[in-house]
This record gives sequence, structure tokens and C-alpha cells, in this order.
Amino acid sequence: MTTLFTPVKIGAYALSHRVALAPLTRMRSETGDIPGDLMVEYYAQRASEGGLLIAEATPVSVRGNGYQGAPGIYADEQIAGWKRVVDAVHAKGARIVLQLFHAGRQSHRDLQPGGAAPLAPSAIPFEGMAHTKDGWQPATPPREMTLEDIATAIEEFREGAVRAKAAGFDGVEIHGANGYLVDQFLQDGSNHRTDAYGGPVENRVRFLAEVTAAAVSVFGTDRVGVRLAPGGTFGGMSDSDPARTFAHAARELDAFGLAWLHVIEPRVAGSQEVTEGAHAVAARDLRAHFHGPIIAAGGFSPESAAAIVAAGEADLVAFGRHFIANPDLPHRIRHGLPLNAYDRSTFYGGDHRGYTDYPAVSAVAA
Ligand SMILES: Cc1cc2nc3c(=O)[nH]c(=O)nc-3n(C[C@H](O)[C@H](O)[C@H](O)COP(=O)(O)O)c2cc1C
Repeated sequence: MTTLFTPVKIGAYALSHRVALAPLTRMRSETGDIPGDLMVEYYAQRASEGGLLIAEATPVSVRGNGYQGAPGIYADEQIAGWKRVVDAVHAKGARIVLQLFHAGRQSHRDLQPGGAAPLAPSAIPFEGMAHTKDGWQPATPPREMTLEDIATAIEEFREGAVRAKAAGFDGVEIHGANGYLVDQFLQDGSNHRTDAYGGPVENRVRFLAEVTAAAVSVFGTDRVGVRLAPGGTFGGMSDSDPARTFAHAARELDAFGLAWLHVIEPRVAGSQEVTEGAHAVAARDLRAHFHGPIIAAGGFSPESAAAIVAAGEADLVAFGRHFIANPDLPHRIRHGLPLNAYDRSTFYGGDHRGYTDYPAVSAVAA
């Protein structure tokens, strides 16, 4: 496990260990869209000296929301709420970046301004659920974005980065994974456009590249990363040639000299285990195309995390579900201590139960 506890440089940050918090939508904003006390406590619990936290998918506009109760970064009041989270994490010596997010078609008209249809590259429905004030509802079929809508969305990502910077975040991660808007442009199962944003992979990657450039214009290349799910099917995703699509995307991102590429390994779809497909694209495949630091995530145990770092296929490992249930996960892994089990029923929404009440080791021992 010692490989996980060696220093590593990721963009502008010198970290002292390689156990990162994966971005996790938990829908615990008490006001509906502003981070409050509960979120401050949750993130502070998971901060460790020299560690990296990637804060949850955060919509850059009301249009980008897909989950009632998720905090946003599209209004100035949200900056003050996030600043409290950031300050609490910094006080414990950790770094925290914000995951900038637009749900695209994985949304519902009740979450949209004026009850409008959600936006997507093409008018292809998402056969899944969105979280509204009335609970989980089937997603509303989307409307195809105009070129003006696309320019607006890119500007929303830029403004989200500006607000994240004002809140004191150390950087941002573009959510290009799990079938949300950026991924919907990238993969040809959800992008049937015939203009400059659709068709060949060179066009499908354009939205990702322009969103990334917008974030870089605010934070600089050494404080911006991108998350991709090259083997993922979550969000109803499919691509006719994922190896080619994601190799191209990784090369495009490599040209920016980004702080990190965050790869969800093909062993999970969203947060459910899947059997690895023979041709699923993984971090080891993208290493050949992206030369900066790689964060791997998805179904890791402490042992397999140490193994992927030792093999040189990733520089850091982000943990999701184990970090939900173990606020002191880096400490537990470092000392080979047992892990608390997670309770899936409290992943999304609710109160402090299943959010801030998982015990740290000292509390277990007490
Ligand atoms: C409750 C929950 C919420 C999640 N929310 C996000 C999110 O906001 N952004 C994201 O990129 N991935 C999200 N994921 C995926 C995780 O970041 C991670 O990739 C996944 O849980 C697999 O890692 P694990 O096996 O360590 O849990 C979520 C997963 C779970 C369980």
C-alpha cells in the first residue's frame, strides 16, 4: 500500500498521498442549491493533510441541473456557501476542486426554467430518471441544441469556473463522463448532429475542447482536469468506436497540458459493478495518448488501487463508495484498518444519516 502514500505532483499541487475523493452527488444542500452546514461538515470530514478532494458534480446553470438538492455554481449566493466548504477543507491541509457539470438530457422539465425541455446535442431521449422535487421521475425528452445554445453552455462553464475561483477552489474538473452533456456530444450514440459539433470524432470532441478551453481561460492549464468514462454505458451511452473516440479525446486534452485526466475504469457503470468487456477502454489505454497525470476510479479496493499505481497505469486513485462510508479513508488504507460498509439507500438526498454520521476510526475505537 506504500505506493499510495508517496508524494505526487498534479498540475499546480504537490500532494502527499494518492487517495482522492471521487466526485459524489449527494443532494444534501438544505436550501436546494446552496451548500450549507451539512456539506461543510461532510467535506471537512474527508479532508486529510496533503490529500485531494473532487467535489460533487455541480451544475453551471439551472438548465444544467438534473438533481434536485444538488448545489449549484450559477448564482453569486452559491459562492459564499462553497467558500465555507473550501475554507474548512483548506484548514485541514487538503486541496479541493469543483466538478463543473451540465446534465444535458439527463434532466426533467420540472428542473428546467419555464418547464422547458432539457437540452442535448440531438433530440434523442434518455431512458432513465432525473431527481425532481417529487422524487425520481423519467427524464423529459430533450430538444436539440442550436449553435447559440452551445455557445451559451460553453459560456456557462466559463462563468462556473469564475465563481469556483471566487469561492477559493484550487481548480475545476470538467465532468465529461457518465452520459451528461459533454459525454453526450462526444459519443455518437447520443450525437447525431451534422454540423461542426457532430459527425466525425474531430467534431464530436469540439464541445469538450471548447468547454475545457473556457475553464483553462479562468484557472490556467495546471488547475483544470477532465473526467471521462471511456468504457461507461451509464446515462444510456454508446459509441460505435470507443477506442478511437476516447484516444482522440485524450490526445486533444493532452495538447492542453492539463493538470489531470480522470478515467472511470470499465468495471463500473455509474456506481454499479459490471463485468469488464473485452474491448472496454481503460486508463492503461489512454496512457499512450495523455502524458500528464492520470486519476483512475471505479471499483477499486485498497489493494487494486496500490496495484494500478505500482503498475504505472495511474498516478492517483479516486474512491467513491468507500469514501462515502469512511470519512478517514486515507488513514484507514495507510494503516490497513478495516473499512465501514456503505449503505446505498442513503447515497442520494436525505439528511445527515448516511452522510456525516459514518464513524472515523478514533470514534469506532472510543
Ligand atoms: C452516490 C454517488 C454519486 C456519484 N456522483 C458522481 C458525480 O457527481 N460525478 C461523477 O463524475 N461521478 C459520480 N459518481 C461516480 C463516482 O465518482 C465513482 O466513479 C463510482 O462510484 C465508482 O467508484 P467506486 O467504486 O470507488 O465507488 C457517483 C457515484 C455514487 C455512488
